Amino acid sequence: MRTGWLLVAVGAAVAAAGVATAGEPDGRVLFKDYCKPCHMAKSPNGEVTPMTLIQDQWERFFKEKLVPSHQNVVDPAHGGKKVLEVITPEMLQKIKKFAIDHAADSEHPMTCG
Ligand code: HEC
Repeated sequence: MRTGWLLVAVGAAVAAAGVATAGEPDGRVLFKDYCKPCHMAKSPNGEVTPMTLIQDQWERFFKEKLVPSHQNVVDPAHGGKKVLEVITPEMLQKIKKFAIDHAADSEHPMTCG
């Protein structure tokens, strides 16, 4: 029991430190950290940047495809936890906004750099 609480406390401290040093991470940074590592050019999972899809496709991806396609995927870049457990709903909102704002048919298509 004690160890459990300690881990929770350490986790919270690390999370707080991350937020404090990075400031409010924007969608681009989140996309780069939480999507790009698995979706770079030539990745077996397919290259994905905001420009890869048009806005309607992104809407559909976040609504219907993200969960089934990532349900059992673990993220080695973030402690080997499941992708869907690592990315919080708040982070996902920012990533989604960034992807849609910079989709192939947006006014400012771009990659996440
Ligand atoms: C730990 C690795 C990993 C991370 C992190 C990851 N993905 Fe994926 N992604 C995958 C795998 C594996 C697939 C499935 C590939 C397949 O089925 O061929 C996939 C599939 C996809 C697809 C195609 C899905 C479809 O049904 O058409 C898109 C688009 C995608 N990911 C976007 C993202 C976005 C956006 C993020 C960040 C929020 C992300 N991925 C984070 C591994 C990852």
